[in-house]
Amino acid sequence: MRPFDDIVRIERAEILDKPAAAVRGVVTRVLTNRKVKDALHGVWLGHPLHPGLAAVAAGSFISATLLDTVGRPVGGGRAPSSFLIAAGLALTPPTAAAGWADWSESHEDQQRVGLVHATANIVGVGLYAAALVRRIRGTGSGRLLSIAAGGAAGAGALLGGHMGYRQAVGANHAEDVPHIGPADWRSLGSLAELPVGKPVRRTAGDVPVFVLRRADGVGPDGISVLSDTCPHLSAPLHEGDVVDVDGEAHIVCPWHGSEFRVSDGCVVHGPATAPVPRFESRVMGDELQARVVPIPGVRAS
Ligand code: FES
Repeated sequence: MRPFDDIVRIERAEILDKPAAAVRGVVTRVLTNRKVKDALHGVWLGHPLHPGLAAVAAGSFISATLLDTVGRPVGGGRAPSSFLIAAGLALTPPTAAAGWADWSESHEDQQRVGLVHATANIVGVGLYAAALVRRIRGTGSGRLLSIAAGGAAGAGALLGGHMGYRQAVGANHAEDVPHIGPADWRSLGSLAELPVGKPVRRTAGDVPVFVLRRADGVGPDGISVLSDTCPHLSAPLHEGDVVDVDGEAHIVCPWHGSEFRVSDGCVVHGPATAPVPRFESRVMGDELQARVVPIPGVRAS
């Protein structure tokens, strides 16, 4: 049996759903301010905030444990290790807040693993804090506490890696579109059959696309074509609501409410942090055609 088989069992552990719902309720009640939520998701960064913060915090903690694992104090006694623990503790509140914000808008199986990930981290942080307190009070080296904390933090990091790489939490789920979208013009069907003001799903080559024909005719023929896959967790965007914001059409994702500008796919509100890939469109006779807008330097055509 491979170690990750056990993690897959956590994904299926329905027993975690009740506590997950309770925690989700708390997170939802606390994180009501959309600007704060967007900041925690990393919309301002164009990248999820949690993984970067977690890497630095976990790196500080684990480095402290490695120093403490060396039997005798290195250099200035336990000071280097204590400094690293203090740095990890200082980074814990923003890291945890960003993590809970992302977690609260993820799938059920992701939340199950996330709950165990957070529990392991809470245990680890508690043990690191206890080690530091012992040192500050002069009641002991806290070395064993630090080593035990490293075990918990390592388990937390392993589960975090599983969430990011296996369950693709925080990954851009539309990243492949500019690579597989057609570089040449493909038919999206008849323009006359396209409803006005209501998004529909069409396919460009094999790629599902979101098509909106706007009543105000903004843009070439008033038509916007985007990938139909939400970059957050792959929801079909054409099932979302189109809202008018200061004369600009935005699409609101039907699953977790990410909001994107229809004209260019830019993220207006998270949890998504990556834009929706865009397609160029044109009308030939009565036929609507589209081709993907390539990422410069990523593909030949
Ligand atoms: S799938 Fe989550 S916001 Fe779109």
